[in-house]
Amino acid sequence: MQYQKHILITGGAGFIGSHLVRHFVRTYPQYRIINLDKLTYAGNLENLKDIDKAPNYHFIKGDICDDLMLAGLLPEYAINAIIHCAAESHVDRSISDPLAFVKTNVLGTVTLLQAARNHWKADMSDKLFYHISTDEVYGSLGAEGFFTEQTAYDPRSPYSASKASSDHFVRAYHHTYGLPVKLSNCSNNYGPYHFPEKLIPLCINNIIHQKPLPIYGKGENVRDWLFVEDHVRAIDLIFHKGKTGETYNIGGWNEWTNIDLVRELCRQMDQKLQREPGTSEKLITYVTDRAGHDLRYAIDATKLSEELGWKPSLQFEEGLSKTIDWYLANSEWLQHVTSGDYQHYYEHQYQQRS
Ligand code: NAD
Ligand code: DAU
Repeated sequence: MQYQKHILITGGAGFIGSHLVRHFVRTYPQYRIINLDKLTYAGNLENLKDIDKAPNYHFIKGDICDDLMLAGLLPEYAINAIIHCAAESHVDRSISDPLAFVKTNVLGTVTLLQAARNHWKADMSDKLFYHISTDEVYGSLGAEGFFTEQTAYDPRSPYSASKASSDHFVRAYHHTYGLPVKLSNCSNNYGPYHFPEKLIPLCINNIIHQKPLPIYGKGENVRDWLFVEDHVRAIDLIFHKGKTGETYNIGGWNEWTNIDLVRELCRQMDQKLQREPGTSEKLITYVTDRAGHDLRYAIDATKLSEELGWKPSLQFEEGLSKTIDWYLANSEWLQHVTSGDYQHYYEHQYQQRS
Protein backbone atom coordinates (compact mmCIF):
# COMPACT_ATOMS: atom_id res chain seq x y z
CA MET A 1 0.00 0.00 0.00
CA GLN A 2 1.16 3.50 -0.87
CA TYR A 3 0.73 5.60 2.28
CA GLN A 4 0.05 9.35 2.11
CA LYS A 5 2.04 10.03 5.28
CA HIS A 6 4.51 8.11 7.41
CA ILE A 7 4.06 9.40 10.94
CA LEU A 8 6.38 8.65 13.85
CA ILE A 9 4.58 8.89 17.20
CA THR A 10 6.99 8.75 20.15
CA GLY A 11 5.74 7.52 23.52
CA GLY A 12 2.79 5.82 21.85
CA ALA A 13 2.58 3.10 24.52
CA GLY A 14 1.89 5.63 27.29
CA PHE A 15 -1.38 7.16 28.39
CA ILE A 16 -1.97 9.97 25.87
CA GLY A 17 0.26 8.39 23.23
CA SER A 18 -1.80 5.19 23.12
CA HIS A 19 -5.04 7.13 22.60
CA LEU A 20 -3.32 9.17 19.90
CA VAL A 21 -1.94 6.10 18.11
CA ARG A 22 -5.34 4.38 18.24
CA HIS A 23 -7.09 7.48 16.88
CA PHE A 24 -4.66 7.96 13.98
CA VAL A 25 -4.50 4.25 13.08
CA ARG A 26 -8.30 3.98 12.97
CA THR A 27 -9.16 7.36 11.47
CA TYR A 28 -6.46 7.46 8.79
CA PRO A 29 -5.87 4.09 7.11
CA GLN A 30 -4.04 6.09 4.43
CA TYR A 31 -1.32 7.00 6.97
CA ARG A 32 1.28 4.60 8.32
CA ILE A 33 1.82 5.03 12.06
CA ILE A 34 5.17 4.05 13.56
CA ASN A 35 5.12 3.96 17.36
CA LEU A 36 8.56 4.41 18.95
CA ASP A 37 8.57 3.76 22.68
CA LYS A 38 11.21 2.75 25.20
CA LEU A 39 8.59 0.91 27.31
CA THR A 40 9.57 2.49 30.62
CA TYR A 41 7.40 1.70 33.64
CA ALA A 42 4.79 4.03 32.04
CA GLY A 43 4.75 2.38 28.62
CA ASN A 44 2.52 -0.64 28.17
CA LEU A 45 1.73 -2.47 24.94
CA GLU A 46 -1.46 -3.78 26.56
CA ASN A 47 -2.79 -0.24 25.96
CA LEU A 48 -2.76 -0.96 22.22
CA LYS A 49 -3.95 -4.58 22.09
CA ASP A 50 -7.02 -3.65 20.06
CA ILE A 51 -5.05 -2.14 17.15
CA ASP A 52 -1.69 -3.87 17.20
CA LYS A 53 -2.54 -6.04 14.17
CA ALA A 54 -3.74 -3.12 12.04
CA PRO A 55 -1.91 -3.07 8.68
CA ASN A 56 -1.01 0.63 9.00
CA TYR A 57 0.54 0.25 12.48
CA HIS A 58 4.09 -0.71 13.46
CA PHE A 59 5.75 -0.73 16.90
CA ILE A 60 9.47 -0.20 17.53
CA LYS A 61 11.04 -0.47 20.97
CA GLY A 62 13.67 2.25 21.28
CA ASP A 63 14.93 5.28 23.14
CA ILE A 64 14.61 8.83 21.77
CA CYS A 65 18.07 9.51 23.24
CA ASP A 66 19.61 6.97 20.84
CA ASP A 67 20.88 9.12 17.95
CA LEU A 68 22.29 6.21 15.93
CA MET A 69 19.03 4.31 16.06
CA LEU A 70 17.08 7.45 15.02
CA ALA A 71 19.47 8.14 12.15
CA GLY A 72 18.55 4.71 10.75
CA LEU A 73 14.87 4.68 11.63
CA LEU A 74 13.76 7.97 10.03
CA PRO A 75 14.99 7.13 6.50
CA GLU A 76 14.12 3.42 6.80
CA TYR A 77 10.47 4.24 7.51
CA ALA A 78 10.45 7.36 5.27
CA ILE A 79 9.15 9.43 8.17
CA ASN A 80 7.69 12.77 7.07
CA ALA A 81 5.93 13.78 10.29
CA ILE A 82 6.68 13.30 13.97
CA ILE A 83 4.29 13.69 16.89
CA HIS A 84 6.52 13.75 19.94
CA CYS A 85 4.75 12.50 23.09
CA ALA A 86 7.53 10.52 24.78
CA ALA A 87 8.49 12.01 28.11
CA GLU A 88 8.94 11.37 31.76
CA SER A 89 5.60 12.78 32.88
CA HIS A 90 5.12 12.50 36.64
CA VAL A 91 5.92 15.56 38.80
CA ASP A 92 6.55 13.53 41.99
CA ARG A 93 9.10 11.33 40.22
CA SER A 94 10.82 14.47 38.89
CA ILE A 95 11.23 15.67 42.46
CA SER A 96 12.93 12.37 43.43
CA ASP A 97 15.01 11.99 40.24
CA PRO A 98 15.37 15.21 38.20
CA LEU A 99 18.18 13.90 35.99
CA ALA A 100 15.96 11.24 34.44
CA PHE A 101 13.72 14.12 33.30
CA VAL A 102 16.61 16.11 31.85
CA LYS A 103 17.74 13.00 29.94
CA THR A 104 14.47 12.08 28.29
CA ASN A 105 12.63 15.39 28.11
CA VAL A 106 15.54 17.67 27.21
CA LEU A 107 18.29 15.51 25.69
CA GLY A 108 15.79 13.11 24.13
CA THR A 109 13.85 15.93 22.49
CA VAL A 110 16.99 17.61 21.16
CA THR A 111 18.26 14.26 19.86
CA LEU A 112 14.97 13.75 18.02
CA LEU A 113 15.00 17.33 16.65
CA GLN A 114 18.53 16.83 15.37
CA ALA A 115 17.60 13.52 13.73
CA ALA A 116 14.59 15.15 12.03
CA ARG A 117 16.70 18.07 10.86
CA ASN A 118 19.32 15.74 9.35
CA HIS A 119 16.74 13.50 7.73
CA TRP A 120 14.73 16.38 6.22
CA LYS A 121 17.58 18.76 5.41
CA ALA A 122 17.28 18.36 1.62
CA ASP A 123 13.61 19.32 1.62
CA MET A 124 11.67 20.57 4.65
CA SER A 125 8.43 21.18 2.75
CA ASP A 126 5.50 18.97 3.80
CA LYS A 127 7.39 17.88 6.93
CA LEU A 128 6.26 18.44 10.51
CA PHE A 129 7.69 18.08 14.00
CA TYR A 130 4.74 18.40 16.40
CA HIS A 131 5.75 18.68 20.06
CA ILE A 132 3.26 17.72 22.77
CA SER A 133 3.73 19.85 25.86
CA THR A 134 2.05 20.89 29.07
CA ASP A 135 0.42 23.89 30.72
CA GLU A 136 2.85 23.44 33.64
CA VAL A 137 5.52 25.38 31.72
CA TYR A 138 3.57 28.58 32.53
CA GLY A 139 4.01 28.15 36.29
CA SER A 140 1.25 28.63 38.83
CA LEU A 141 -1.78 30.96 38.90
CA GLY A 142 -3.41 32.66 41.87
CA ALA A 143 -7.19 32.64 42.22
CA GLU A 144 -7.67 34.68 39.02
CA GLY A 145 -6.57 34.54 35.39
CA PHE A 146 -5.71 31.99 32.72
CA PHE A 147 -2.65 30.83 30.81
CA THR A 148 -2.67 32.10 27.21
CA GLU A 149 -0.10 31.39 24.50
CA GLN A 150 1.52 34.73 25.44
CA THR A 151 1.99 33.91 29.13
CA ALA A 152 5.69 34.00 30.04
CA TYR A 153 7.24 30.66 30.96
CA ASP A 154 7.80 30.16 34.69
CA PRO A 155 8.31 26.43 35.32
CA ARG A 156 8.65 25.48 38.98
CA SER A 157 9.20 21.71 39.17
CA PRO A 158 12.00 19.66 37.59
CA TYR A 159 9.30 18.14 35.34
CA SER A 160 7.95 21.46 34.11
CA ALA A 161 11.47 22.93 33.79
CA SER A 162 12.44 20.00 31.56
CA LYS A 163 9.29 20.40 29.44
CA ALA A 164 9.85 24.18 29.18
CA SER A 165 13.41 23.55 28.06
CA SER A 166 12.21 21.10 25.40
CA ASP A 167 9.65 23.66 24.15
CA HIS A 168 12.43 26.25 23.82
CA PHE A 169 14.57 23.83 21.81
CA VAL A 170 11.68 23.05 19.46
CA ARG A 171 11.18 26.77 18.79
CA ALA A 172 14.95 27.27 18.45
CA TYR A 173 15.11 24.57 15.73
CA HIS A 174 12.29 26.35 13.91
CA HIS A 175 13.92 29.79 14.05
CA THR A 176 17.50 28.67 13.53
CA TYR A 177 17.21 25.82 11.05
CA GLY A 178 13.74 26.36 9.57
CA LEU A 179 12.44 23.04 10.94
CA PRO A 180 8.64 23.05 10.47
CA VAL A 181 7.22 22.70 13.99
CA LYS A 182 3.98 23.02 15.91
CA LEU A 183 3.50 22.91 19.68
CA SER A 184 0.55 22.45 21.98
CA ASN A 185 0.38 22.92 25.74
CA CYS A 186 -2.42 20.99 27.39
CA SER A 187 -3.96 20.87 30.86
CA ASN A 188 -4.45 17.72 32.99
CA ASN A 189 -5.80 14.76 31.03
CA TYR A 190 -7.85 11.90 32.45
CA GLY A 191 -9.46 8.76 31.01
CA PRO A 192 -8.80 5.06 30.34
CA TYR A 193 -5.21 3.70 30.42
CA HIS A 194 -4.05 6.45 32.82
CA PHE A 195 -1.23 5.07 34.96
CA PRO A 196 -2.31 4.86 38.64
CA GLU A 197 0.47 7.08 39.96
CA LYS A 198 -1.58 10.14 38.89
CA LEU A 199 -4.37 11.49 41.10
CA ILE A 200 -7.53 10.16 39.39
CA PRO A 201 -6.48 6.58 38.57
CA LEU A 202 -4.60 6.27 41.87
CA CYS A 203 -7.76 7.19 43.78
CA ILE A 204 -9.95 4.90 41.64
CA ASN A 205 -7.60 2.01 42.39
CA ASN A 206 -7.49 2.84 46.11
CA ILE A 207 -11.27 3.17 46.36
CA ILE A 208 -11.69 -0.24 44.74
CA HIS A 209 -9.32 -1.72 47.36
CA GLN A 210 -10.61 0.52 50.18
CA LYS A 211 -7.17 2.01 50.76
CA PRO A 212 -6.48 5.60 51.99
CA LEU A 213 -6.87 8.41 49.41
CA PRO A 214 -3.77 10.60 49.87
CA ILE A 215 -4.58 14.30 49.43
CA TYR A 216 -1.53 16.55 49.32
CA GLY A 217 -1.68 19.55 51.67
CA LYS A 218 -5.22 20.84 52.13
CA GLY A 219 -6.52 19.63 48.78
CA GLU A 220 -7.07 23.22 47.66
CA ASN A 221 -4.85 23.07 44.56
CA VAL A 222 -6.77 23.50 41.33
CA ARG A 223 -6.33 21.61 38.05
CA ASP A 224 -8.16 22.02 34.74
CA TRP A 225 -9.23 18.54 33.60
CA LEU A 226 -9.74 17.37 30.02
CA PHE A 227 -10.90 13.97 28.77
CA VAL A 228 -7.97 12.40 26.93
CA GLU A 229 -9.94 11.79 23.71
CA ASP A 230 -10.72 15.51 23.55
CA HIS A 231 -6.97 16.20 23.75
CA VAL A 232 -6.40 13.74 20.92
CA ARG A 233 -9.06 15.45 18.75
CA ALA A 234 -7.29 18.76 19.37
CA ILE A 235 -3.93 17.22 18.37
CA ASP A 236 -5.50 15.87 15.17
CA LEU A 237 -6.87 19.34 14.30
CA ILE A 238 -3.59 21.10 15.05
CA PHE A 239 -1.62 18.46 13.15
CA HIS A 240 -3.76 18.95 10.03
CA LYS A 241 -4.91 22.57 10.24
CA GLY A 242 -2.75 24.44 12.78
CA LYS A 243 -0.25 27.00 11.53
CA THR A 244 3.39 25.97 11.31
CA GLY A 245 5.60 27.68 13.89
CA GLU A 246 2.67 28.27 16.23
CA THR A 247 1.63 27.14 19.69
CA TYR A 248 -1.90 26.21 20.75
CA ASN A 249 -3.14 25.94 24.33
CA ILE A 250 -5.58 23.09 25.01
CA GLY A 251 -7.76 22.99 28.14
CA GLY A 252 -11.09 21.83 29.43
CA TRP A 253 -12.54 25.06 30.91
CA ASN A 254 -13.03 22.67 33.81
CA GLU A 255 -11.37 23.64 37.08
CA TRP A 256 -11.63 21.49 40.18
CA THR A 257 -9.92 21.65 43.54
CA ASN A 258 -8.35 18.27 44.28
CA ILE A 259 -10.57 17.70 47.29
CA ASP A 260 -13.81 18.44 45.39
CA LEU A 261 -12.69 16.18 42.57
CA VAL A 262 -11.89 13.30 44.93
CA ARG A 263 -15.25 13.77 46.70
CA GLU A 264 -17.05 13.55 43.34
CA LEU A 265 -15.06 10.41 42.55
CA CYS A 266 -16.04 8.89 45.91
CA ARG A 267 -19.70 9.76 45.32
CA GLN A 268 -19.80 8.14 41.89
CA MET A 269 -17.83 5.08 42.99
CA ASP A 270 -20.04 4.44 46.02
CA GLN A 271 -23.01 4.38 43.63
CA LYS A 272 -21.34 2.13 41.06
CA LEU A 273 -19.94 -0.27 43.69
CA GLN A 274 -23.26 -0.23 45.57
CA ARG A 275 -21.62 0.95 48.75
CA GLU A 276 -23.37 3.16 51.34
CA PRO A 277 -23.11 6.87 50.34
CA GLY A 278 -20.15 8.35 52.25
CA THR A 279 -18.20 5.08 52.47
CA SER A 280 -15.32 6.09 50.19
CA GLU A 281 -15.02 9.66 51.55
CA LYS A 282 -13.95 8.14 54.85
CA LEU A 283 -10.77 7.00 53.05
CA ILE A 284 -9.66 10.61 52.39
CA THR A 285 -6.35 11.19 54.19
CA TYR A 286 -4.46 14.49 54.18
CA VAL A 287 -0.72 13.91 53.72
CA THR A 288 2.44 16.02 53.46
CA ASP A 289 2.23 18.42 50.53
CA ARG A 290 4.21 18.04 47.29
CA ALA A 291 7.37 20.20 47.42
CA GLY A 292 6.79 23.43 45.44
CA HIS A 293 3.19 22.38 44.72
CA ASP A 294 1.72 24.69 42.05
CA LEU A 295 -1.54 26.18 43.31
CA ARG A 296 -3.64 26.52 40.19
CA TYR A 297 -3.49 25.78 36.45
CA ALA A 298 -6.16 27.06 34.07
CA ILE A 299 -5.92 27.24 30.31
CA ASP A 300 -7.45 29.80 27.97
CA ALA A 301 -8.09 27.73 24.82
CA THR A 302 -9.70 30.60 22.85
CA LYS A 303 -7.11 30.49 20.04
CA LEU A 304 -7.77 26.79 19.42
CA SER A 305 -11.53 27.16 19.53
CA GLU A 306 -11.65 30.34 17.37
CA GLU A 307 -9.05 29.31 14.77
CA LEU A 308 -9.77 25.60 14.53
CA GLY A 309 -13.30 25.23 15.96
CA TRP A 310 -12.31 22.84 18.78
CA LYS A 311 -14.39 22.39 21.94
CA PRO A 312 -14.27 19.75 24.68
CA SER A 313 -17.04 17.22 24.03
CA LEU A 314 -17.71 15.87 27.52
CA GLN A 315 -18.90 17.33 30.80
CA PHE A 316 -16.53 16.32 33.59
CA GLU A 317 -19.06 14.25 35.58
CA GLU A 318 -19.82 12.25 32.42
CA GLY A 319 -16.12 11.83 31.54
CA LEU A 320 -15.34 10.74 35.08
CA SER A 321 -18.19 8.23 35.00
CA LYS A 322 -16.90 6.75 31.70
CA THR A 323 -13.40 6.60 33.18
CA ILE A 324 -14.52 4.79 36.35
CA ASP A 325 -16.56 2.33 34.26
CA TRP A 326 -13.47 1.59 32.17
CA TYR A 327 -11.33 0.86 35.25
CA LEU A 328 -14.04 -1.36 36.76
CA ALA A 329 -14.34 -3.29 33.50
CA ASN A 330 -10.55 -3.61 33.08
CA SER A 331 -9.46 -4.94 36.45
CA GLU A 332 -6.91 -7.19 34.75
CA TRP A 333 -5.13 -4.18 33.18
CA LEU A 334 -5.16 -2.43 36.55
CA GLN A 335 -3.84 -5.50 38.29
CA HIS A 336 -0.99 -5.91 35.78
CA VAL A 337 0.18 -2.31 36.06
CA THR A 338 -0.04 -2.21 39.86
CA SER A 339 1.93 -5.37 40.51
CA GLY A 340 5.74 -5.49 40.79
CA ASP A 341 7.53 -2.15 40.60
CA TYR A 342 4.41 -0.14 41.29
CA GLN A 343 4.23 -1.54 44.83
CA HIS A 344 7.79 -0.36 45.57
CA TYR A 345 7.12 3.06 44.07
CA TYR A 346 3.91 3.42 46.09
CA GLU A 347 5.45 2.40 49.39
CA HIS A 348 8.42 4.70 48.87
CA GLN A 349 6.38 7.80 47.78
CA TYR A 350 3.64 7.54 50.36
CA GLN A 351 5.70 6.35 53.34
CA GLN A 352 7.62 9.63 53.06
CA ARG A 353 4.35 11.60 53.20
CA SER A 354 2.59 9.93 56.13
P1 NAD B 1 3.13 8.71 30.10
O1 NAD B 1 4.14 8.80 31.19
O2 NAD B 1 1.86 7.97 30.33
O3 NAD B 1 3.80 8.06 28.81
C1 NAD B 1 5.08 8.41 28.37
C2 NAD B 1 5.52 7.37 27.34
O4 NAD B 1 6.83 7.75 26.87
C3 NAD B 1 5.65 5.94 27.90
O5 NAD B 1 5.07 5.02 27.01
C4 NAD B 1 7.16 5.73 28.00
O6 NAD B 1 7.54 4.38 27.85
C5 NAD B 1 7.65 6.58 26.85
N1 NAD B 1 9.05 7.02 27.04
C6 NAD B 1 9.58 7.56 28.16
N2 NAD B 1 10.89 7.82 27.96
C7 NAD B 1 11.17 7.44 26.68
C8 NAD B 1 12.35 7.47 25.88
N3 NAD B 1 13.50 7.93 26.38
N4 NAD B 1 12.27 7.04 24.61
C9 NAD B 1 11.10 6.57 24.10
N5 NAD B 1 9.97 6.50 24.82
C10 NAD B 1 9.99 6.93 26.10
O7 NAD B 1 2.87 10.21 29.67
P2 NAD B 1 1.49 10.92 29.23
O8 NAD B 1 0.77 11.34 30.44
O9 NAD B 1 0.82 10.09 28.22
O10 NAD B 1 2.09 12.23 28.55
C11 NAD B 1 2.46 12.22 27.17
C12 NAD B 1 2.98 13.60 26.79
O11 NAD B 1 1.97 14.57 27.02
C13 NAD B 1 4.18 14.04 27.63
O12 NAD B 1 5.05 14.75 26.79
C14 NAD B 1 3.59 14.97 28.67
O13 NAD B 1 4.51 15.94 29.07
C15 NAD B 1 2.44 15.59 27.89
N6 NAD B 1 1.27 16.01 28.68
C16 NAD B 1 0.66 15.16 29.56
C17 NAD B 1 -0.48 15.57 30.23
C18 NAD B 1 -1.20 14.67 31.19
O14 NAD B 1 -2.12 15.13 31.87
N7 NAD B 1 -0.88 13.40 31.29
C19 NAD B 1 -0.99 16.86 30.02
C20 NAD B 1 -0.33 17.71 29.13
C21 NAD B 1 0.78 17.26 28.44
O1 DAU C 1 -1.15 20.02 33.84
C1 DAU C 1 -0.69 19.01 32.99
C2 DAU C 1 0.10 17.99 33.78
O2 DAU C 1 -0.84 17.25 34.55
C3 DAU C 1 0.94 17.07 32.92
O3 DAU C 1 1.91 17.81 32.23
C4 DAU C 1 1.62 15.99 33.78
O4 DAU C 1 2.31 15.09 32.94
C5 DAU C 1 0.54 15.25 34.55
O5 DAU C 1 1.13 14.30 35.41
C6 DAU C 1 -0.32 16.23 35.37
O6 DAU C 1 0.47 16.81 36.44
P1 DAU C 1 -0.15 17.02 37.91
O7 DAU C 1 0.97 17.11 38.86
O8 DAU C 1 -1.16 18.12 37.90
O9 DAU C 1 -0.95 15.62 38.05
P2 DAU C 1 -1.12 14.60 39.27
O10 DAU C 1 -2.19 13.64 38.89
O11 DAU C 1 0.19 14.07 39.73
O12 DAU C 1 -1.68 15.54 40.43
C7 DAU C 1 -2.91 16.24 40.28
C8 DAU C 1 -3.12 17.04 41.54
O13 DAU C 1 -3.40 16.13 42.62
C9 DAU C 1 -1.91 17.84 41.99
O14 DAU C 1 -2.34 19.06 42.56
C10 DAU C 1 -1.25 16.95 43.06
C11 DAU C 1 -2.44 16.25 43.68
N1 DAU C 1 -2.19 14.88 44.17
C12 DAU C 1 -1.58 13.98 43.35
C13 DAU C 1 -1.34 12.68 43.76
C14 DAU C 1 -0.65 11.70 42.85
C15 DAU C 1 -2.63 14.49 45.44
O15 DAU C 1 -3.22 15.31 46.18
N2 DAU C 1 -2.41 13.21 45.85
C16 DAU C 1 -1.76 12.29 45.08
O16 DAU C 1 -1.56 11.13 45.52
